[in-house]
Amino acid sequence: MNRIEPTPKRLTPDLIGRFKAIVGEKYAVTDPHDIAAYVTEERMLYHGHSQLVLRPGSTPEVSAICKLANETQTPLVPQGGNTGLVGGQTPHHGEVVVSLRRMDRVRDLDPQSNTMTCESGMVLLNAQKHASEADRLFPLSLGAEGSCTIGGNLSTNAGGNTALAYGVARDLVIGLEVVLADGRVLNALSKLKKDNTGYNLHNLFIGAEGTLGIITAAVLKLFPKPRAVETAFIGLKSPKDALALLGVARAEASGAVTSFELVPEIVIEFCVRHGSGIRDPMPTRHPWYVLMELTSPAASLSETMETILSRGMEEGLVEDAVIATSLQHRRSFWDLRDFVTHSQKPEGGSIKHDVSVPVASVPEFLDKASAAVVRFMPGARVVPFGHLGDGNIHFNISQPIGADKEAFLGSWRAMNDVVHGVVAEFGGSISAEHGIGYMKRDELAHVKDPVALQLMRQLKATLDPNGILNPGKVV
Ligand code: FAD
Ligand code: LAC
Ligand code: ZN
Repeated sequence: MNRIEPTPKRLTPDLIGRFKAIVGEKYAVTDPHDIAAYVTEERMLYHGHSQLVLRPGSTPEVSAICKLANETQTPLVPQGGNTGLVGGQTPHHGEVVVSLRRMDRVRDLDPQSNTMTCESGMVLLNAQKHASEADRLFPLSLGAEGSCTIGGNLSTNAGGNTALAYGVARDLVIGLEVVLADGRVLNALSKLKKDNTGYNLHNLFIGAEGTLGIITAAVLKLFPKPRAVETAFIGLKSPKDALALLGVARAEASGAVTSFELVPEIVIEFCVRHGSGIRDPMPTRHPWYVLMELTSPAASLSETMETILSRGMEEGLVEDAVIATSLQHRRSFWDLRDFVTHSQKPEGGSIKHDVSVPVASVPEFLDKASAAVVRFMPGARVVPFGHLGDGNIHFNISQPIGADKEAFLGSWRAMNDVVHGVVAEFGGSISAEHGIGYMKRDELAHVKDPVALQLMRQLKATLDPNGILNPGKVV
């Protein structure tokens, strides 16, 4: 089967008028100045273009948009908070953007069933707040949580800083409402914990990056709100010691280890240099750091944290550690962590890799991949950080100091080959949590099991025979 390629389409004034009539003049954006925010992303890596951004306010409006797009073979790009890191939300070929952000209502919050049904344009931070007001926790958490939406989180199957304890976005949802390419509405908004009536259809749309349907609402799982929270910034010699410390933490605190984020010294340097108000979290510098958080709905965890850190010191794993003494202190640790992606931009070109390997292989992977990068490009600065507990490292490469940015970025593919070659040696993945989008589409075709790829393309052709949903992405 041939890969579905996007067909650029110039919209006629008549067609624009028909789309506008669905959402109303006020919610159809045609002014290029206003469109700009929807067609580029923060890092300025991708620049798309579009004649029309539609901002529907309800599921029937999304359904009418899809129906008209399907009948007229007009390609659409679903968009939430536009924080995706693989160009999946960008209209690279002039597609119509369907922004879900106006759809941000809570439809139902049921503390007894521990579920919240909300529309897909709800910003993640607001979903967390609604849960908190009901004395519950919605645990998904990532640096972009002030802008990214539930629909984007589910469509990319986002991971983030709490996946270690709560799983990824897929694990946090039990039902979905999805508008299909032809406008039909799949109502799978079930609150049932147990429901074995046939295929699990809603799961198909999670991680599909807007290529199979437009998610309009979701039933999210809620959890008991943590009463005890302990957060520490820990200095260490090596990722190997960090991994051993994770073992200690798990032995002492079991499922209470909620976050275990690895950060190298260069990241502290970048964040302190470029982040306003971001300060060094520890009195002296260390080659590596871990930001560890323990949480529990019940007991106090301060003794547990102290036991983990003293065992870590006795076993020679921890050089030094600082435990947050206030909410503000804790926030300062997380502000640094949330700034990591932004801190690389002022350092020039950055070539991104979002990889995973088996957790036990992370230290060896880091050694091998770093050596391979420096062999390939002397002076290149390896900036690996991320979710050590999930085996998920953002293995980014900043340009050599003083290098030409464009020339450096010209090595993107060759650098990917170097890094992903090492990932393959460890049986890893080239996309742990950000998705395939536009960035890794061609590479996916080389690394994915051929039968899996064939099934993906067959599914795409079945659900979106006219190829109107996010064409040219993923498959
Ligand atoms: P968008 O960027 O708007 O879209 C992303 C994809 O989903 C696109 O393919 C789009 O077409 C599709 N889509 C969006 N909404 C819908 C919908 N309703 N129906 C169907 N398809 C839809 N990601 C992680 O996994 N873990 C992290 O720790 C993390 N940290 C980040 C930190 C920063 C500072 C930034 C900028 C990004 C980070 N990301 C992370 C990446 C990004 O925030 C996530 O991928 C997020 O889930 C995207 O949500 P969004 O609403 O912005 O989606
Ligand atoms: C993070 C993004 C890059 O973990 O996924 O900061
Ligand atoms: Zn991440």
